[in-house]
Amino acid sequence: MSIRAARDAALRPVPSAEPRSVTILGSTGSVGRNTVDLIRRDPAAYRIEALTGSDNVALLAEQARLLRPKLAVVANPARYGELKEALAGTGTELAAGPEAVTEAAQRPANWVMASIVGAAGLKPTLAAVRRGAVIGLANKETLVCAGALMMGEVKRHKATLLPVDSEHSAIFQVFETERRESVDRIILTASGGPFRTVSHEVMANATPAQAVKHPNWSMGAKISIDSATMMNKGLEIIEARWLFDVTPDQVQVVVHPQSIVHSMVEYVDGCVLAQLGVADMGIPILYALTYPERRPTPAPRLDLPRVGTLTFFEPDPVKFPCLRLARAALEAGGAAPIALNAANELANAAFLDRRIRFVDIPQLIERAVEADGPGAITSIEDCIEVDARTRRRVETWLGGSGGVSRWK
Ligand SMILES: NC(=O)c1ccc[n+]([C@@H]2O[C@H](COP(=O)([O-])OP(=O)(O)OC[C@H]3O[C@@H](n4cnc5c(N)ncnc54)[C@H](OP(=O)(O)O)[C@@H]3O)[C@@H](O)[C@H]2O)c1
Repeated sequence: MSIRAARDAALRPVPSAEPRSVTILGSTGSVGRNTVDLIRRDPAAYRIEALTGSDNVALLAEQARLLRPKLAVVANPARYGELKEALAGTGTELAAGPEAVTEAAQRPANWVMASIVGAAGLKPTLAAVRRGAVIGLANKETLVCAGALMMGEVKRHKATLLPVDSEHSAIFQVFETERRESVDRIILTASGGPFRTVSHEVMANATPAQAVKHPNWSMGAKISIDSATMMNKGLEIIEARWLFDVTPDQVQVVVHPQSIVHSMVEYVDGCVLAQLGVADMGIPILYALTYPERRPTPAPRLDLPRVGTLTFFEPDPVKFPCLRLARAALEAGGAAPIALNAANELANAAFLDRRIRFVDIPQLIERAVEADGPGAITSIEDCIEVDARTRRRVETWLGGSGGVSRWK
């Protein structure tokens, strides 16, 4: 079932007497931890099939002791011994390595949270799609790398993608699927990140600690840096194009520093529908987790008089070239978005490791997309090949060692 059909058709709420079986891919990350917290508030409503992490074995083991999943998987095979020791005697089945993460996604949970960061989420998310699961999609890189292929598989296997990104959750809630020909454009809001008002000089000398400090949201390191470069919004343009089956020029971005209006849809009659709320990922996560029901969240309520002013600006294309790069990659299609994503992952990590400056990130990405060219992509294997090739190339430019393609 496509996202468009999801509201119309047979996504019936699981009767409350019957717990919903859930797998969380990336349970140790920011979105994953939020999901675990929400599940713990209503334990009778869920049965946990599998949890997966990568390096944070201590947290994975703690979550497994609390939620008692049938399976716990650590993606980094070097950490298997620790996991085994930490969960000895619990009865939870254990596994390690990237293939085991994909196998976790194949297990029969009827709801899967896809919250692995980066292209590493591609194969596991695809595995969940191919068995027709309902998927809460946080891992936007999956659609950036393989949007057309993934949406084709969603349709073929009657899977359902429910957006978790707050912007796409907002659009999903105000997108009149039954009148989609009346949609003029999607307006994605962006906070503008921590460097919205600073000079180019300050940005050039920014430290990872400054760049990771998002003004409104608490998130994982990679997406926080992506927000600072505004590549996050670029990736979200691509995500929206595929999720809602609109043309690239129908997706526009407006900077909204308060992060209260999470996104909007404009119709041909000039009517604009928006979804508003406080900046708390618990809201879109729970909406995807309980859809089509709405359940109470612990998130604070929106107090508009207290917020006072909502402002909107055009993004600055000179200061934030990643927006242009992402849009160009989407329009070029083929290998370009995959190269963009892989180069961004490496540049982002290299900046966090203090190997490059903040302003080097877009340059590295542009060079990588140009170097690969717009090759045709006809399979997931093609995507993986372009991803690996770009990582090798960028790592060479970065001067060497390690981290080329984790666990692939
Ligand atoms: N954070 C947010 O508020 C937010 C909002 C909207 C969308 N998203 C999207 O959600 C996704 C996750 O973001 P996040 O902020 O939650 O990231 P995060 O905090 O960095 O967590 C990433 C998760 O992926 C796991 N992981 C890392 N590398 C892996 C690999 N090679 N194989 C398998 N698992 C791996 C991590 O395991 P370990 O921690 O154990 O190493 C962790 O569980 C991203 O695509 C992001 O764009 C996030």
